[in-house]
Amino acid sequence: MAATKKVEVRYYSKTGNTAKLAEAIGDELLVKAKSVEVPIEGDVDILFLGSSVYGAGVDNKVKTFINSLDSRVKTVVNFSTAAILPSTYGQIKKLLGEKGIALEVREFHCRGEFKFMHKGKPDAQDIKNVREFARKIVS
Ligand SMILES: Cc1cc2nc3c(=O)[nH]c(=O)nc-3n(C[C@H](O)[C@H](O)[C@H](O)COP(=O)(O)O)c2cc1C
Repeated sequence: MAATKKVEVRYYSKTGNTAKLAEAIGDELLVKAKSVEVPIEGDVDILFLGSSVYGAGVDNKVKTFINSLDSRVKTVVNFSTAAILPSTYGQIKKLLGEKGIALEVREFHCRGEFKFMHKGKPDAQDIKNVREFARKIVS
């Protein structure tokens, strides 16, 4: 039998949308979803990293977190919410590239509520979808 993969979930969420995805992933994989302010310790096979865009891009706390990573993290999986932008994938890939850490090609992204836009997003279907996504990634 294959050894169990070590999975971690980290996220940054200003208004709670990306946090909903992080909690769902954590719940699905029986791992506690934690803020990017909680450092990674030891070897990690799969790090689910959640972020969003705020004008200029991902928050500085996400950048600081990525900067703190090293090769003990084998793979990062991006998940994100945004009002308009298709995803944070490109920004995260660039930041991880500077650290020599691989970013999984599969990602999860959905709309996030912002002012009068996308009321209730992520919604129940998004949560169902992100749970399925997380299961597939670790399988
Ligand atoms: C200060 C601020 C700036 C934002 N700028 C953008 C933006 O430039 N492009 C975009 O697609 N969404 C933008 N949004 C919308 C957020 O990306 C969206 O609401 C996202 O789901 C927020 O995630 P969070 O609740 O996890 O913080 C902005 C939201 C805030 C609060």
